[in-house]
Amino acid sequence: MQKFDNNKKPQQRIQKLRAEIARLRDAYHTENAPNVTDDVYDSLSRELKELLKKYPELEDINSDENRVAGKPLDKFEKVKHSIRMLSLNDVFSDEELYDWENRIKKLLPPEISQGRSLREFPQGPSFNYFCEVKFDGLAVSLIYENGKFVRGATRGDGLIGEDITQNLKTIKSIPLILPKPFPEFIEVRGEAVMSKKTLEKLNKKILEGKGSLPALPTGQAGGRQAFANTRNAAAGSLRQLDPKLSAERHLDFFAYDIAEIKFYTKEVVKFPSRGSHFVPLNAPKEGRSEENFTTSFVLENHSDKHKYLKNLGFQVDPNDAICKNLNEVISFIKKFETIRPNFLYGTDGVVISVNDLRLQEILGVVGKAPRYMAAFKYPAEKATTIVKDIKINVGRTGVLTPLAIFEPTLVAGSKVSKATLHNMDQIERLDLRIGDTVVIEKAGDVIPKVVEVLTRMRTGKEKKFKMPQTCPACGGKVKKKILSEVSSVAFYCVNPKCPAKDERYLEHFVSVFEIYELGPKILRRFKDEGLITDAADIFTLTKEDIAPLERFGEKSAENIINEINKKKKIPLSKFLWTLGILHVGEETARDLATHFGTLENLLISTQQDLAEIDSIENIGPAVSKSVSNFFNDKNNLNFIKKLQQNGVVVEKALKIKVGKFVGLNFVLTGTLSTMSREIAKERILALGGKVVGSVSKNTSYVVVGTDPGSKLKNAKKLGVKVLNEADFLKLL
Ligand code: IVH
Repeated sequence: MQKFDNNKKPQQRIQKLRAEIARLRDAYHTENAPNVTDDVYDSLSRELKELLKKYPELEDINSDENRVAGKPLDKFEKVKHSIRMLSLNDVFSDEELYDWENRIKKLLPPEISQGRSLREFPQGPSFNYFCEVKFDGLAVSLIYENGKFVRGATRGDGLIGEDITQNLKTIKSIPLILPKPFPEFIEVRGEAVMSKKTLEKLNKKILEGKGSLPALPTGQAGGRQAFANTRNAAAGSLRQLDPKLSAERHLDFFAYDIAEIKFYTKEVVKFPSRGSHFVPLNAPKEGRSEENFTTSFVLENHSDKHKYLKNLGFQVDPNDAICKNLNEVISFIKKFETIRPNFLYGTDGVVISVNDLRLQEILGVVGKAPRYMAAFKYPAEKATTIVKDIKINVGRTGVLTPLAIFEPTLVAGSKVSKATLHNMDQIERLDLRIGDTVVIEKAGDVIPKVVEVLTRMRTGKEKKFKMPQTCPACGGKVKKKILSEVSSVAFYCVNPKCPAKDERYLEHFVSVFEIYELGPKILRRFKDEGLITDAADIFTLTKEDIAPLERFGEKSAENIINEINKKKKIPLSKFLWTLGILHVGEETARDLATHFGTLENLLISTQQDLAEIDSIENIGPAVSKSVSNFFNDKNNLNFIKKLQQNGVVVEKALKIKVGKFVGLNFVLTGTLSTMSREIAKERILALGGKVVGSVSKNTSYVVVGTDPGSKLKNAKKLGVKVLNEADFLKLL
């Protein structure tokens, strides 16, 4: 198969990217196109940026991507920040948040990180976090002298920004005069933002040819272009040289920090700073009674800065909250994730700070970012990439599954380099060709999918994909089958001895039997050495068979044999799942098991007509036919007999008692003494509960045996209820 190389014609790719980025930006605002997401737009923009970095000769000063770029404009005065404007380190998952906490705990006095209380830190054993929304706009610094707004600047490179005072004065939520008693000097930092609604209206105007154009870096006129997002719109608007134009944009401002205060008492505080700082407060506005109003308070937490900023008349994030620990931080992040789509302003995450300003000072700044803050970024669930190749995976039932292969691409927080294309129908439905630019999606733990082809990115060199006529693993014949129920076409390798099928089957078999010691490599080795010819042979392996093999030895041979012997008992539903019957996955196997109760009943039924299987809820004619074919094949019956002769015991299915565990999710970890994990799982399922593989906030209980793994740790971290074996037995 010929691979597609994107780097051959960078010029053409850049041109295509520019055109598609511009089209998406306009389409989003004019066509109300729900499919065009920020993720796709950002992903294409990132690729363009990277290509231009690699091929700087292809830069074009007049092209769109330079219109709102972050370079300081010569037209504005340069301003030096007396305290550097920092950026934030990103974290992308709960795990990374815990890693951050572990890192900072090591830098804090043991009294704080380990739990003994200290006079200097009367809050005791731990410390609080402060959570606030991360606004997607432009960072600005505002300077007030004697209560008057005297200068506003952009962040620039953190040290030198641009003086945009006149433009900032047009923002209604930036107070021009602070209420008394104000400090002699204060530098407030925050985000200038445009609401989503304002952006919509502005883009409509721009595209209809009304209103002002987005600024060009050199001030020249250009074609009318809508803004891609609220961040670009806010930045572009503040870069208008004429403040009147900036005023038309109706920007907003949210304060999030105080960099420095000088009090009339001559006390100067540059943050982060140790010590407590007394601040006088303004009385509440007339007619507005505020309970517990005090005339002053001590500035010792980040949350106090917010309180003080509010008191001085600034807007702060209305959602902000103090969280006692990372569990509460994670709840804040989850909660805001649901609010976020309807939030009035664009956001790209949550900013988490160690609340105590004295701890902030101890933790300090490293590089360009403070150690005491982290930005949790919501992962992009969609990204774009180029399909380099389409490969075929031969599954255990012989089904050929096409896979799209691409360069490692970051999506939903992890790098992926392949995505399932399910079947030929899907490829045709998407009209996917090798060389196409596609949108891939990955939500949670699911396997990434190709969801869309950006056909406008085509160059004409893309190649259509054809299903091979012979199996790529064994060269055997490939047959086409129409699955009438789902009206889809599947391709199968018909060679019963296909090694790929065999390998996948063995891997599936041991994973359902939970024989963890036998990974794919070991299975292949045993097969090559002639120790096993089929899965049933696994149960007659002896220590003496394995120990002499190179890289094994006595100990590992013993572990393998012990594990196999422990796993010989298997519930009926799992047993049916191991058999690899076409169309019988975990769910269908469970339906069959609960209906028939025993393997014998199922065998008797399949020797008669299909009426009984057909009558089972959720089981259609294609499944019942496949089940019947399977149990009427002599080879399969011999295989089942061999398994039983080799010591496999198939347990009766338990009748479902509906109710008790419905809606509950269980995670099992460690070894239980009264039953195997499979049995525990079956008991939970029989009571209507679910058993999942990893602990999350949605887990109801973690059942813990001896030698529990990291799941117990995760449960503790997330505050999930933990049951020991005795508690669990009581629940059953
Ligand atoms: S605190 C250390 N709080 O995020 C810098 N930043 O990625 C102080 N941002 O340059 C940042 N909302 O422009 C903070 N509530 C918030 C924020 C916020 C948006 C921006 C800020 C900063 C960038 C860093």
